[in-house]
Amino acid sequence: MIVSDCCSHSAGAREQQVTGTGPAAQHIDTTRPHPARVYDWFLGGKDNYPVDERLGRQIAAVDGGGALRAARANRAFMHRVTRALAEDGIRQFLDIGTGIPTEPNLHRIAQSVAPDARVVYVDNDPIVLAHAGALLRGTPEGVTEYVQADARDPRGILEQAARVLDLGRPVALSLIALLHFVTDEDGAREVVSTLVDALAPGSCLVLSMMTADFEPENVEQGIAAYAAGGVTLVARSRDEVAAFFEGLDLLAPGVAPVDAWRGEPSPDEAAPVSLYGAVGRKP
Ligand SMILES: C[S@@+](CC[C@H](N)C(=O)[O-])C[C@H]1O[C@@H](n2cnc3c(N)ncnc32)[C@H](O)[C@@H]1O
Repeated sequence: MIVSDCCSHSAGAREQQVTGTGPAAQHIDTTRPHPARVYDWFLGGKDNYPVDERLGRQIAAVDGGGALRAARANRAFMHRVTRALAEDGIRQFLDIGTGIPTEPNLHRIAQSVAPDARVVYVDNDPIVLAHAGALLRGTPEGVTEYVQADARDPRGILEQAARVLDLGRPVALSLIALLHFVTDEDGAREVVSTLVDALAPGSCLVLSMMTADFEPENVEQGIAAYAAGGVTLVARSRDEVAAFFEGLDLLAPGVAPVDAWRGEPSPDEAAPVSLYGAVGRKP
């Protein structure tokens, strides 16, 4: 399913388009926690349900506040990277695992640098689709589009994204705080390589994902709390994160905790951010 803002520019009115073969409205399951809604709770959002808040509180009680710090630092990482890539000339963005809108969203950052930036958002959670309208309010010169799809279907995503993005030109592909929900058995490596293979030279891969390198016990407790809520999470080491960038040129500072990626590292030495972030450019 595609939801788009790309019509009626001449009339000065934004028309929201829903196309494709998927069901127009999907059931939002409020009986069990969903990653997008738990993350929204960590960010102080209102688009979550009691079951999500309960899990968020359980995680916060056992992980020393790590998930809360990580969520905020991760959002700031997305802002810094998007700005840096837009300033570097990238005009097309494919963001998979977008999450519930939280201002400023990626297109706001990209289009504040380059009003003509084209952005395709992708998520598989019906709650994100329900709030997609907030992702579609971009500049008149640019385009924003929302695709409801699963990251484990990279070819399907590329097919839909190619209706908006010129895949013959550089794209910033971001999978930010997504891949810890996609296990190796689920084909995480193949998802990334299929997407990157389809992109033009000069394109960039932006990843952030959970690690147990710094606070193994807290992270294991967090993973266990998610598992009890029915959500599978995987933590990856620095080397495992670096392996996703095989064949790409890692931009400085390489694979680093998200707060340290061209930002201010956590001032609290005892409480590092347990999310690695990195950006690689396709030669
Ligand atoms: C922690 S949120 C990250 C949101 C945003 N990227 C950010 O970093 O602020 C993870 C998002 O990934 C989405 N997600 C998880 N598994 C997915 C999958 N297999 N396909 C597409 N989206 C997925 C969730 O629905 C959720 O919105």
